[in-house]
Amino acid sequence: MPEAFGITEELVTGLTTGNAPFVEEARSHGESFIEQRYELYSPANHEAWRSLCERIRPRWERYANTHFLHGIETLHLPYDRIPRLSDINRFLHPLTGFQARPVSGYVPAFVFFDRLRQRQFPTTITIRPADKLDYLPEPDIFHDVAGHVPMHTEKAFADALVRFGDCAHTAVKIAAGIPDDEERVRRLTSILTGMSRFFWFTVEFGLMRSPRGVCAYGSGLLSSFGELQHSIESPQVGRYPLQIEWVINQSFEIDHYQPLLFIVDSFEHLFDLVDELERWMREGSLNNVAPGPPEIDERDLRSFLDATT
Ligand SMILES: [Fe+2]
Repeated sequence: MPEAFGITEELVTGLTTGNAPFVEEARSHGESFIEQRYELYSPANHEAWRSLCERIRPRWERYANTHFLHGIETLHLPYDRIPRLSDINRFLHPLTGFQARPVSGYVPAFVFFDRLRQRQFPTTITIRPADKLDYLPEPDIFHDVAGHVPMHTEKAFADALVRFGDCAHTAVKIAAGIPDDEERVRRLTSILTGMSRFFWFTVEFGLMRSPRGVCAYGSGLLSSFGELQHSIESPQVGRYPLQIEWVINQSFEIDHYQPLLFIVDSFEHLFDLVDELERWMREGSLNNVAPGPPEIDERDLRSFLDATT
C-alpha cells in the first residue's frame, strides 16, 4: 500500500497469525514478553474476533461451565472488538492476582509454568485470519483470552494453575538430584510427558460435572465452535471421571477432535488432583509413564535442564 495513503504494511496485515511483522520481529530478537500494540490490529482482525464470538456465544451458554460464563461477564469481555489485555487485567487482577501477559509466541515449558506460579498467563496477541475461523494450528488471542482467561477469575482454578507451576519446580529439583546425565534426561522426559498429558486433559480439554449435566472448562473446547458441542453431545466421545494414573499414561493427538475426555467434580477437585500430581511426582510415580505422544520438544526439555543449574 503506498506510503502516501499513510497506511503502513502493519496496518494492512495487522496482527494476524503467521503474518504479524511486529510480533515476528520481536521473536527474531528472542523477546518472548512484549507489548500488545493495540493500534496494530487491522479491521479484519477485529472482524475475526467479532465473528468468532458471535458464532460461539450460544454454545457457551449451553455447554460452558458457570464459572466461565461468570468470568466473561466479570471481565467485561468485549464481543465486538479484540480486547485490550490492560482492560482485562484491571478486572482480573483484584480477583485472583492473575494477569494476562502478552507474548510473541512459543514460550519454553519451564518458563510458561514458572509464570503460572507467578500468576501470570503468557498470552498470544495475534488472531487467526478472518477467512479461516476454524483453522487453528497454534494458539491465538481468541484461544488464550476467550478460552483460558475467564477461568482465571475463579480462585480454586487460579490456585490449581499456580500448583502446576509448583509441579514444574518439583520436576527441576528432582532432575537436579540425578547425577547421571542420561538418567536425568530420561526421567525428566517421563515426568514432563505425564505432566503435559495431565495439563492437556484438564486445563485444555477438561470436562466438569454440574447440576445441568457435564459441561466444558478446557480452553481448547471453549475456543472451538465445533469441538465444544462435539465434546458434550457426541456418542463417539468417551467421558470418564479423571483418575491420575490413567491420565498420565494416556497419549493424545492434537490434530483432530478428542475421542477421550475426563471429568472433574469442581475446580476444588481439580486443585486437589494437581496437588496429588505433585506428590506423585515427588514419590517417583511419574518416572516411567507409558511411552507415546506427546513427544517432548527439545526446547522444553532444555528449559527444565537449564533451570537445574
Ligand atoms: Fe491453551
